[in-house]
Amino acid sequence: QQLQQEIEGYQILDASELEAFKLEFTVRKGKIAGLFGQLKTVDAADRPRMGQLLNALKLSAEARVADAESRFAQNAQSAAPALDLSLPGRRSFLGSEHPVQKVLGDMKRIFTAMGFGIATGPELELDEYNFERLNFPPNHPARDMQDTFFITRGDAEGDVLLRTHTSPVQVRVMLDQKPPIRVICPGKVYRNEAISARSYCVFHQLEGLYIDKNVSFADLKATIYSFARQMFGSDVKLRFRPSFFPFTEPSAEVDVTCYLCGGKGCRVCKKSGWLEIMGCGMVHPNVMKHCGIDPEEWTGYAFGMGVDRTALLRYKIDDIRLFFENDVRMLSQFMA
Ligand code: PHE
Repeated sequence: QQLQQEIEGYQILDASELEAFKLEFTVRKGKIAGLFGQLKTVDAADRPRMGQLLNALKLSAEARVADAESRFAQNAQSAAPALDLSLPGRRSFLGSEHPVQKVLGDMKRIFTAMGFGIATGPELELDEYNFERLNFPPNHPARDMQDTFFITRGDAEGDVLLRTHTSPVQVRVMLDQKPPIRVICPGKVYRNEAISARSYCVFHQLEGLYIDKNVSFADLKATIYSFARQMFGSDVKLRFRPSFFPFTEPSAEVDVTCYLCGGKGCRVCKKSGWLEIMGCGMVHPNVMKHCGIDPEEWTGYAFGMGVDRTALLRYKIDDIRLFFENDVRMLSQFMA
């Protein structure tokens, strides 16, 4: 009876008072538990009635705890700072696709629509994949420090370097898969060249490889024509100039009519009316042999183009270095 009054009269205004209340009444060693403990000393006849009384006592104490806890929770909410509707809204920043990725995306779409798969590989490569299996003789000038960033030289697996083209990805594909093979290899490549508005130590390439039975130079030309019309417009003209690469024979460089002046001659094409867009050729038999493919049974073509210069021309940007500075003032101009 007295305890009932004590419980009801107890002032619970804050968390520490609540804690004290719990300690006094409801914990395992509190007053109510104590009374429950004494129950066995009570006359057996009175025991059920006393038990009921004690249960009621316990319930009312628990009700006070629950009530205090919900009051405190409400107070905590109303104490939070009010929402100030007069404040200006926070601007949310949306990223934009990098211009190089936009051009690369167009190129990928054109080739995947023709049935090419996409293959990627490591940017840190072994000499074996970047040069050796691609038929570069041991003393080829491209292996020189002038062009290649070597990371470690002459350990057990051979030189480790930053790939200078994405052709090593094609080597990996040939070693990995049986022909027919039809892949493009997009990615970053690295060259230790003098840095200027037109060339940077990093840039992007997209190379392609097609190996099947009876693939000819005519197939290569048709593929490049189809690509160029979709990429640069249906009225572009192409020019295949004989060239040399260790991994293709015969080899060619491909020019398109300058799509800025329509072939009349301007500052960008240096008055020639032509822009060089890629290297290509028929896969050299030695490369096939180095990659486990029989050149008597299979033939193929390969091509490789730079992405960044096309992006420069398309968006009329005059310095390639802007592509690698990640300045949002530049990048945010390519939202659309
Ligand atoms: N790998 C060459 C380069 O980086 C491009 C190329 C690829 C040329 C395939 C011919 C055939 O310059």
